[in-house]
Amino acid sequence: MRMYDIIEKKRDGFELSIEEIEYFITEYCNDRIPDYQASALLMAIFLRGMNERETADLTNVMAHSGDMIDLSDIPGIKVDKHSTGGVGDKTTLVLAPIVAACGVPVAKMSGRGLGHTGGTIDKLEAIPGFNTSISREDFIKNVKEIGISIAGQTGNLAPADKKLYALRDVTATVNNISLIASSIMSKKLASGADRIILDVKTGSGAFMKNLEDSVKLAKEMVKIGENTGRRTAAIVTDMDIPLGFAVGNSLEIIEAIETLQNRGPKDLMEVSFELAARMLELCELGTFDKCMNMVLKAVESGKAISKFAEMVERQGGNTDIINDYSLFPQAEYKYDYVSQKAGYIEAMKTDTIGVASLELGAGRETKESSIDYAAGILFKKKTGDRVEKGEVIATLYTNKEEKIQSACSLLDRAICFSEEKPQLKP
Ligand code: URA
Repeated sequence: MRMYDIIEKKRDGFELSIEEIEYFITEYCNDRIPDYQASALLMAIFLRGMNERETADLTNVMAHSGDMIDLSDIPGIKVDKHSTGGVGDKTTLVLAPIVAACGVPVAKMSGRGLGHTGGTIDKLEAIPGFNTSISREDFIKNVKEIGISIAGQTGNLAPADKKLYALRDVTATVNNISLIASSIMSKKLASGADRIILDVKTGSGAFMKNLEDSVKLAKEMVKIGENTGRRTAAIVTDMDIPLGFAVGNSLEIIEAIETLQNRGPKDLMEVSFELAARMLELCELGTFDKCMNMVLKAVESGKAISKFAEMVERQGGNTDIINDYSLFPQAEYKYDYVSQKAGYIEAMKTDTIGVASLELGAGRETKESSIDYAAGILFKKKTGDRVEKGEVIATLYTNKEEKIQSACSLLDRAICFSEEKPQLKP
């Protein structure tokens, strides 16, 4: 078999066989196919697409490119969740302790930020002392003993995805349904959970910009999960606006802590509680309404925040942060971004907001950059809100004074005004 022929076949719009997909993944993982040929094939897939069979085969081959984690030592049905990536998306930090507090074990392997989107592992590392690189044994032990653990993906979990994702990130081949579906589902299959809930984001801050593509992506991933014996469900949620008010690692942990105590922003509570209830429903704890009641009780009774504290303590983090936010890394500069005009915020280009937060230090410019956990943006106004000239729309947090102006310019571009109050999306 020759990589050249595989590229040519997909370039001309033909279907790849499982043998060709296996050859590509195996040889690429073993460094026997150079990045330029892998990039050419990715671009051919991006432009020509893959059918359901090819996508399912690609997913399976990528899942088996590394370790397949065995969670069978943990009693009960194990449930996992994945988001397709967004801005201000801290739902895992809220729903994982809630689901665990309701008695369903959560063994969650999470990722770091990608492009303009944030990652759960980076957020958790904003908690002083929190260790996300625990051993497989400790990860399983924690889930067995306290019902929850969130850790970074080990190096050998779907390594084919790790290599391909890095290439897609720099070759403009991320936003393709088959490539996203296989990337996400290969990791989920390798992570060993019995049930999977997917939060498929849609809108300007998501990789899928329109609802039709997002629904298509959701259906494709659900089908892959179901065909491999994992009950899978997806909800499509709005990412045309940051989720909650906080964007940036410490700021988002603080917002998650507030939400776990029933004091969070309405949109974040709605999405997190819905996902948590769907996870319980997938694990056969009852009807959706019954599961939603369990979620609300876990939050109102304080069990959810206690479970979060237990997880933080178990993974070496300082639990005092829950009651004292001054223990988080603090930004040297806090700058109020004020409105230049009066009107309603009609739209927020959410990917640009993600980039503004990244500029302030909350994300990585390159793979090697380190994150400033204190950096980010705290919004006071979002889409649909009335703003007067000179009123504060958001506060920027950073340790890089020189980045404030460029972040403000990005926000100027990201926030659109109108005279009329806009219709809000659900
Ligand atoms: N998240 C992933 O893990 N992979 C993608 O391709 C996109 C979002």
